[in-house]
Amino acid sequence: MPVYEEQQLQEISRQFQIYGEILHAETCKIGHINETYSATYDQGGTRVRYVHQKINRHVFKDPPAVMENLERVCRHLRQKLEARGVSQITRRCLTIVPARDGRPYYVDRNGDYWRTFLFIEGVQTFEAVQSPGQAFEAGRAFGEFQQLLVDLPGPRLHETIPDFHNTRKRFAAFLEAVEKDPANRAREARAEIEFALRRESITGVILDAMARGRIPERITHNDTKFNNVLMDVATGEAMCVVDLDTVMPGCALYDFGDMVRTTTSPTLEDERDLSKVRMQLPVFEKLVAGYLSAAGAFLTPTERRLLPFAGKLITFETGLRFLTDFLTGDMYFRIHRPGHNLDRCRTQFKLVESIEQQEEAMQRIVDRWDGGPTRRRPRQLRVGRRSVAGHSTAES
Ligand SMILES: Nc1ncnc2c1ncn2[C@@H]1O[C@H](COP(=O)(O)OP(=O)(O)OP(=O)(O)O)[C@@H](O)[C@H]1O
Ligand SMILES: [Mg+2]
Repeated sequence: MPVYEEQQLQEISRQFQIYGEILHAETCKIGHINETYSATYDQGGTRVRYVHQKINRHVFKDPPAVMENLERVCRHLRQKLEARGVSQITRRCLTIVPARDGRPYYVDRNGDYWRTFLFIEGVQTFEAVQSPGQAFEAGRAFGEFQQLLVDLPGPRLHETIPDFHNTRKRFAAFLEAVEKDPANRAREARAEIEFALRRESITGVILDAMARGRIPERITHNDTKFNNVLMDVATGEAMCVVDLDTVMPGCALYDFGDMVRTTTSPTLEDERDLSKVRMQLPVFEKLVAGYLSAAGAFLTPTERRLLPFAGKLITFETGLRFLTDFLTGDMYFRIHRPGHNLDRCRTQFKLVESIEQQEEAMQRIVDRWDGGPTRRRPRQLRVGRRSVAGHSTAES
């Protein structure tokens, strides 16, 4: 993993439309996907920081298309927040700083694509949710993100990774891996393979509903991990959603499902002590409350009804992907120990079981929000109520 020298970073930083004198540049985070750096400038006696990110060209084959999506999304988010009269807008959505030639990216001499954002100050990220209150904030942040993008004008966004959540295709890839068994590992994962085979029927539920027009296509984030939400250090409020490379046409349920997967268990996704892995109902309840406080304004009844199912499906799909990668010799997910992908798969499948055991209770929570007398109705929701009623008619 190449890490850049300060001089190289400064050179890259200078390719963007930034005023002032550069003071220093450093590594911020070498994440799973991107490499993130920061640069500090003196602007009229005030220190201002910027984020520089190198786009992963192996994962994203068409960086200009990624950036075209990002530009449109960030511009729209900003306009909507401005219209709402919200304060601190540059802390609530990413602000792209263009390169000197006006494009939203700079291509270096190696052919790598770089982009720059204003650095959002006074925030922090967490790898795992630490309280039900944080689950509420995560749900609200991604729900609001989807809601703000419901009326994005213009043509369909680019599909930056085609078939990202096509669970049926993921299942087909798994079957092929079992049949070919290229790394000769299938016998080590017999129980997990059986577990997956017994659940094939769930893989088509959302795809079929979308194909029949029962679930609309929406603009979704597609990587709704909790560490992609910047949380205000002082107030704990979710400020900004980042990691927008996979924002594209998709299904709102997938975003919610991945939130269930990544927030409701007290463990990380590769926990080896499976007795600790479980879907915690109080956390789920907060996640639903946060998500629906924003997304409740536009979701159709079918989408709402499938929220618990989506949690199960995306957790299953992720487990399936880890299992497939284990069987094919760890080609996609970076591993840190032998059997790491099988461990990750076991953690996901344990969580699937835990969800299955509590699916009815989860459903009651969602249904209660929908029709019960105690449901939360934030002001902004009432404004959009009419369009929700319209959806109901179309759906039923
Ligand atoms: N504009 C910003 N202001 C402040 N911090 C930022 C900004 N953009 C990104 N970060 C920080 O950099 C981290 C990595 O960014 P991002 O999620 O886009 O990259 P990534 O490689 O996809 O990371 P990961 O693999 O962890 O998801 C974020 O978690 C956040 O802490
Ligand atoms: Mg990230």
